[in-house]
Amino acid sequence: MRAMVAIRPGGRETLRLVDLPIPRPGPDEILVRVKALGLNPVDVKIRGGYRAEGRSWPLPLGWDVAGVVEQIGQVVTRFKPGDEIFYCGDLTHPGASADYHLVNQRLATLKPASLSFVEAASLPLVGSTMLQGLGRQARLVKGETVAIFGAAGGIGGMGVMLARSMGARVIGVCSGHNTDYLRELGADEVIDYTRVDPVKAIRALTGGRGAEVVVDTVGGEGFQQAIESLAPFGRLLFLNAFPENAPPLSALNPLRLTNGALHCVMVVPSGELMGELAEHIDKGTITPKVEQVLPLERLADGHARLESRHGRGKVVIELDMKMSESIS
Ligand SMILES: NC(=O)c1ccc[n+]([C@@H]2O[C@H](COP(=O)([O-])OP(=O)(O)OC[C@H]3O[C@@H](n4cnc5c(N)ncnc54)[C@H](OP(=O)(O)O)[C@@H]3O)[C@@H](O)[C@H]2O)c1
Repeated sequence: MRAMVAIRPGGRETLRLVDLPIPRPGPDEILVRVKALGLNPVDVKIRGGYRAEGRSWPLPLGWDVAGVVEQIGQVVTRFKPGDEIFYCGDLTHPGASADYHLVNQRLATLKPASLSFVEAASLPLVGSTMLQGLGRQARLVKGETVAIFGAAGGIGGMGVMLARSMGARVIGVCSGHNTDYLRELGADEVIDYTRVDPVKAIRALTGGRGAEVVVDTVGGEGFQQAIESLAPFGRLLFLNAFPENAPPLSALNPLRLTNGALHCVMVVPSGELMGELAEHIDKGTITPKVEQVLPLERLADGHARLESRHGRGKVVIELDMKMSESIS
């Protein structure tokens, strides 16, 4: 099978198109014919050596998959060959930038019929993460205010849509060229951080209190601003797992004044979260936002877009796409 692999930890120059044997499913695994692969910043981090212990290289990258069940292991009961599924794979296993991928049956769910493979592949990781973060960790309640830093990105945009569907008032923080896009996503208020101080703007919009839930996908200075935008007893979701963006302990001082809680979000992929995501898709409360569709040969270009850290929506690899058909 074709596979685009990183031959060793490093930059985009380590990516190569190679031929690999088709893997064989273990007892509770499914062999999936990959139709589309959604990209996420964590792909770039893993390519660079993040969480490298125990990995073997060359390594296919990318864990958000939409595809067709090709073969099932002996004890697989939830799926049969021909089923169209989507899932967020286990990040500790090899990725799916290849014609075929193995996944444990407990991680997958049936792809909503209303979505194309490309659309479905754009949702698993960001959808699971925000369902886990806003729902299970912050326990967002109807009527609360949520402020999202990095709201136009893949994960931030999902946060805007989900928070709206949970009945929250949503304040999105982005740069000027994304303000109309954020309003289209459903943000009630949009703050252009390149023009105004987002902390002051969030306080002004909340009668001085701050937001009950703040989502930081940016890190660094963004984390500082996020923590200062929190209402008393508020909940801060910290999503940016870049090691260099980990905040120093002193950055947590404002929490002492507000009695706020810090929730570090590290998504634990599951079929249960995917099922919840599929329900939101069926209800129309979330819709895919795909910025770029590329063939497998252009995976490095997709990584370059993620490395810019100014994405708007998602980048997806379409496995059957020819080089001449790229959409960006
Ligand atoms: N912990 C988890 O489980 C988990 C899950 C998913 C993602 N993440 C992490 O979340 C981060 C974002 O992921 P993503 O997929 O959303 O990336 P992305 O699609 O590349 O988006 C990044 C966003 O950050 C915004 N941004 C950059 N600098 C900013 C600033 N100073 N203030 C406000 N916004 C700023 C950009 O908006 P503008 O262009 O408008 O500036 C862009 O929309 C990554 O580090 C990723 O690894 C973590």
